[in-house]
Amino acid sequence: MQNFDFYNPTRIVFGEKSIARLDDLVPTDARVLVLYGGNSAERSGTLAEVRAALGARKLWEFGGIEPNPAYEILMRAVELVRTEKLDFLLAVGGGSVIDGTKFVAAAVSFAGDPWAILETFGSTVTDALPFGTVLTLPATGSEMNCASVITKQETLAKLPFMTPFVYPKFSILDPVKTYTLPPHQLANGVVDAFTHVIEQYLTYPTEGRVQDRFAEGLLQTLIEIGSKVVNEPADFDSRANLMWSATMAVNGLIAAGVPQDWSTHMLGHELTALYGIDHARTLAIILPAMLHLRRENKRAKLLQYAERVWQITEGDEDERIDQAIEKTRAFFESLGLKTHLSDYNISADEIDRLIQQLQAHGMTQLGEHQDVTLEVSRKVLEASL
Ligand code: NZQ
Ligand code: ZN
Repeated sequence: MQNFDFYNPTRIVFGEKSIARLDDLVPTDARVLVLYGGNSAERSGTLAEVRAALGARKLWEFGGIEPNPAYEILMRAVELVRTEKLDFLLAVGGGSVIDGTKFVAAAVSFAGDPWAILETFGSTVTDALPFGTVLTLPATGSEMNCASVITKQETLAKLPFMTPFVYPKFSILDPVKTYTLPPHQLANGVVDAFTHVIEQYLTYPTEGRVQDRFAEGLLQTLIEIGSKVVNEPADFDSRANLMWSATMAVNGLIAAGVPQDWSTHMLGHELTALYGIDHARTLAIILPAMLHLRRENKRAKLLQYAERVWQITEGDEDERIDQAIEKTRAFFESLGLKTHLSDYNISADEIDRLIQQLQAHGMTQLGEHQDVTLEVSRKVLEASL
């Protein structure tokens, strides 16, 4: 096992009707900005519950944070916070609203143009406003981690940043809040969480037995509940398990002491930035091809994944690996996520442009061995057609 420093200060308040807990989680003298997305939080009554729970606190609201949150829009929230001297942020929504809130929190006191936060992947952040979240879409894990992904619309750059200053103070996870999600967003949530686990688990063995078993447990849970979550009417237990799996998938726990990959995510971000494909859908396209092409470096873990997660024991090594990758692809497809670029009318002609974007964003040495060069990324994109 590798050395690690595991720190996660986010309080999780889980369960039905837990929005009422905002009253004891948000300081009573706070000047609060509530941030949200389009209409879903108003329509579902979630914003009304939030307003009621915050009671007599001084409240401002900032709506209109769209999926894949835009720097240009978030800067308006930064101005509002600075002008009104607000001192606490509350995100009500999915990963986009939470990521956007993290950016606002870090940008408010940032000297110079806050886009530099993304250009330096968060290393220049020295402070952030405190904030909490009310999660309405289980998928990204943003509710319990210190990562955020922001898009600059002007240049179509979708970049991540990470800094311990943007751990949420608390996150409220009420599985009932997922009942209004359309099936395609639920399917996105399952696949995003699944891929997060894979990108931390499916690298090479380092005797991280605890991390491996946790990761395999999360993958098996997502496989067990996936179809029910997407295809059957909402019920508390499957939604509760989705919510907790997605949070645990990327809060630092299973990453501690083991190598991490994240190349599928970085290629996926370029697909979202250029073509607007939902985040999870880009992962469903890239991951099977990525595993297939990098099977030599990932061989031992692919065999472990095949056996422990999919119970594949028949055939020689390569046959078992092929079966595991095909099971993964079939799982994504069974939830309604297509797994080829051609399903989105993206042809080989687009690959040069994608490679240029990766180069422009410094994504030239990805993966657990930093050996996913632009040449390897090109092969992965070709294999994803
Ligand atoms: O905008 P509204 O009207 O609220 O509708 C949203 C949005 O259209 C809707 N929605 C959310 N909760 C709902 C609901 N509709 C009905 N009922 C509810 N309860 O869902 C749509 C998608 O929301 P969004 O927040 O964009 O989805 P998601 O949570 O999948 O977040 C995706 C973003 O997170 C980033 C992605 O790149 C993408 O920008 N990621 C963040 C990560 C992190 N911070 O650690 C890691 C991830 O890998 C990912 O990159
Ligand atoms: Zn993701």
